[in-house]
Amino acid sequence: MTGSPLLALRGISKRFGAVQALKDVELEVHPGEVVALLGDNGAGKSTLVRVIAGVAPADTGAIEWEGRPVQIRTPQVAQHLGIATVYQNLALCDGLDVAENLFLGRERRSPGALGRLFRHMDKSSMRVEARRQLDALGIRVPDMRTPVATLSAGQRQTVAISRALLGKPKAVLLDEPTAALGKQQAGHVLDLVDKLREQGIGVILISHNLGDVKAVADRAAVLRLGYNNGFFDVPTTSQDRIVSSITGISSSP
Ligand SMILES: Nc1ncnc2c1ncn2[C@@H]1O[C@H](COP(=O)(O)OP(=O)(O)OP(=O)(O)O)[C@@H](O)[C@H]1O
Ligand SMILES: [Mg+2]
Repeated sequence: MTGSPLLALRGISKRFGAVQALKDVELEVHPGEVVALLGDNGAGKSTLVRVIAGVAPADTGAIEWEGRPVQIRTPQVAQHLGIATVYQNLALCDGLDVAENLFLGRERRSPGALGRLFRHMDKSSMRVEARRQLDALGIRVPDMRTPVATLSAGQRQTVAISRALLGKPKAVLLDEPTAALGKQQAGHVLDLVDKLREQGIGVILISHNLGDVKAVADRAAVLRLGYNNGFFDVPTTSQDRIVSSITGISSSP
């Protein structure tokens, strides 16, 4: 990959008590690049996402954003830089509808005193914007007033991703977005990842499904027991080679 990275992690380490979750981890993501972050259960993938998202900052190591060193000590800092995250365990509010979930934490108030004094929400404007956003991404949800509890797992995932995109991020971190989905629904999410790449967004995609990785990723970075265990150019690397790196078992004779 040419050009300078959007995001670069240098020597990131993170410990939880006796568990060394990450040790000297390196990772680069360029604009318009999809990097798959792979590894067995407990390899440190979600921890790395939480480091980048400012939820669980690293103990040591450095992060560079657009070529400059940054400290991402809180989720607000990450958001401000343009890093959006869809976490492994989706945080949608079941009782709220699609539009309310999209705008959760950044609700629009009604104009004038109604909004200013009574904190009245401008629901119709949020619904219009939610619809515009989902349409732009080719996501089909019939009614913005549908409570998300009634949506399919695939629809929920696309709502969660849309929510992350509302802030117009430059980088998007997706932690196992297809794990709970059927083949067709997973296909929709992967199409969405392709769209992000086309928009020049840098994507980190965590997945246990190497088919997904082959379908959308440009490069793959493998973590094993908290360490980097290989970087691969996805189109030119065999699935076996990547599996060996994940499991630590060599498949060659
Ligand atoms: N908050 C925490 N407190 C203590 N240990 C933690 C915490 N978060 C993660 N760990 C430990 O750090 C290691 C890495 O966990 P992590 O969730 O990053 O793995 P993962 O690669 O995302 O796994 P999975 O594929 O199962 O989602 C594990 O040993 C885990 O038990
Ligand atoms: Mg995880």
